[in-house]
Amino acid sequence: MTDIQHMLDTGRSAIAAATSTSELEAARVAHLGRSAPLVTLLRTIPDLAPEERGRVGKEGNLARRELEELASSRSVELERSELIARLAADRIDVTLPTMSMPQGTLHPLTQTRRRIEDIFLGMGYSIGDGPEVESEWYNFTALNTPHGHPARSSSDTYYLHGEPGTDDAVILRTQTSPVQVRTMQLQQPPLYMIMPGRVYRRDEIDASHSNMFHQVEGLAVDEGLTLGDLKGTLETFCRAMFGASREVRLRTHFFPFTEPSVEVDLSCYLCNGTGAPAADDADFDRCRLCRGEGWLEIMGAGMVDPNVFAHLPGYGDTNVRGFAFGMGVERIAMLRHEIPDMRLLFESDVRVLEQFPGR
Ligand code: PHE
Repeated sequence: MTDIQHMLDTGRSAIAAATSTSELEAARVAHLGRSAPLVTLLRTIPDLAPEERGRVGKEGNLARRELEELASSRSVELERSELIARLAADRIDVTLPTMSMPQGTLHPLTQTRRRIEDIFLGMGYSIGDGPEVESEWYNFTALNTPHGHPARSSSDTYYLHGEPGTDDAVILRTQTSPVQVRTMQLQQPPLYMIMPGRVYRRDEIDASHSNMFHQVEGLAVDEGLTLGDLKGTLETFCRAMFGASREVRLRTHFFPFTEPSVEVDLSCYLCNGTGAPAADDADFDRCRLCRGEGWLEIMGAGMVDPNVFAHLPGYGDTNVRGFAFGMGVERIAMLRHEIPDMRLLFESDVRVLEQFPGR
């Protein structure tokens, strides 16, 4: 047996015996690497006697090529079986119980806003929005609020830019009502839309005031709408939100952009409008929610003032009438959940928030 034949045989058996890619790599280095006997021998060919060179060169290169092919096909086999073993070991048992992951809930204000939206969507309204940074013109002038009105001053309203009391001064909107104007500029009647959003007022923060809060504005414009349509709409809303036996009462009020204007009261759902304390309320001599009034104030509303329509093309027609209403989302949420202090809605205290597990 020649040396080359011996090298080939030991190389073959080392490659065949490798049971892992790392053992195969070791065998490859030993039999095909720079200092492997076969490779060393091939390097010495130029020094051999001329009659030897041809035979050694030919046999040696054949042997090397065979070992290279064996090594590469063994490598494919081993990589494949190692992959299969790894996949089998990695398999996840999906029937194992999971670790419980605490899951957050929607903020009570978001839950309430979505509930309001759902109820009006059910009555065929759509949802719109508008900017929180507004001009005085949209927030006041276009809403029939005269120059010199106390709200148009920097003691009541946040001014960002411009001279307070002028049309192009830039403010944080104090109400969602400017979205009424923006909507009517873009769309012709009939219109049935609610516009939820944040509003800002320079108020001291206490249990029932905040310098930032949320409103949902509503606007309906159609031929022949009346105050009766407004009342029916708000009754439908109040009954969906607070229970089927709720009554709605309209009290005259004033808003610059509605005429007539009303404040909307809801019959108290705790005492059923009687004002009497709950049977288990030993500490109170009258209903703790409505303070014995029997009614809860929940929003402002009215018929759109013709002065608001006057500068809006398509809205001055004699038969087109509109009603509008605006409610505070915080107020509705507080009534709904009997939350005693508005600050609880803004403090993000998990002990409070986790009491409202809705999604
Ligand atoms: N924008 C009024 C407010 O913030 C509420 C309102 C809206 C009243 C629409 C009437 C009609 O007090």
